[in-house]
Amino acid sequence: MDGEKLAIIGLPLLAVLFVAIGFIAKPPAEPEPEPAPPQAFDKELAAAYVQAGCWQCHAVSTLQTELTEAFGEQAAGARPMGPDLAGVGNRYHPDWHTAHFWKPDDVYAGSQMPAQRQLFEPGQTKLNAQGRKVVEFLLTLKSRSDLNKPWPTARVTAPTGDAERGRLLFLRECAGCHGRDADGDGPAARFMVALRKPPALAKGDFIYMPAGERPLDSIYTVITNGVPGSAMPSFASRLTEQQRADLAAWVAKVGGK
Ligand code: HEC
Ligand code: HEC
Repeated sequence: MDGEKLAIIGLPLLAVLFVAIGFIAKPPAEPEPEPAPPQAFDKELAAAYVQAGCWQCHAVSTLQTELTEAFGEQAAGARPMGPDLAGVGNRYHPDWHTAHFWKPDDVYAGSQMPAQRQLFEPGQTKLNAQGRKVVEFLLTLKSRSDLNKPWPTARVTAPTGDAERGRLLFLRECAGCHGRDADGDGPAARFMVALRKPPALAKGDFIYMPAGERPLDSIYTVITNGVPGSAMPSFASRLTEQQRADLAAWVAKVGGK
């Protein structure tokens, strides 16, 4: 048999063999993750996002084609310096977005994103019609991406934390909403209007403390998972376990728990 023939017969045979080995050697299947919801596209809402110029820094990987076809290649995010926004719809409450547009650094310490004051009524802290549409657009971005996975939900046990380090982290990461003295009146608190205001942690305003769980673990779980459906975000991807443990230690101490 010459080399060419050998390759023609041999290669497919090899492929079959590899597939077979892979099949046998495969560990028991993990439960399939829920299929990602298909990405909706609302042209009117997307237009508000494009007009606001968000594409100058952001891409939406799950809407690359739709944005390009509707608004041109630039709109899909030509040279994104900000994160891919695919999947953010699962993560943030509209009140979080509003506070973020007003002053990104208040809710996202050290943010490089400029304030988006063109999205507010003149002289007010209320979103204008375009601003509301941009937020609505962000909420449609539900299809999962590797970057923006859904936030964790499991209850977790706090590793040992250092309250003094936690105090410094609190000033950086949490004071924008919860206030520097943890009394619930940070500058971003005025945007949290839909549900509960950021609680005054220093006054012991805790409602997420299931009976039988260590308060420290309850606090650590909230910091890790956020409070789903509220403006309290998850810090699972933003802070390390140790940092979250330090924060939990500080919050427990200041809250008398
Ligand atoms: C000049 C660049 C720039 C512009 C313009 C901009 N952003 Fe951003 N944005 C960023 C950067 C950088 C980040 C990453 C975190 C940070 O530094 O704040 C970010 C973060 C975000 C996040 C949080 C993403 C996450 O995964 O946590 C959202 C949501 C967002 N931007 C939405 C918008 C929207 C909507 C607009 C338009 C109204 C906009 N941005 C305009 C640069 C920008
Ligand atoms: C964008 C604003 C915002 C930021 C930033 C924020 N929080 Fe919150 N937080 C809230 C809001 C709003 C709630 C109330 C959620 C609810 O119950 O609806 C909350 C709730 C909590 C709770 C639950 C208290 C209870 O009732 O048991 C804890 C603990 C907490 N936050 C700690 C933190 C810590 C620690 C940080 C910083 C790492 C932080 N938060 C950052 C807005 C924020």
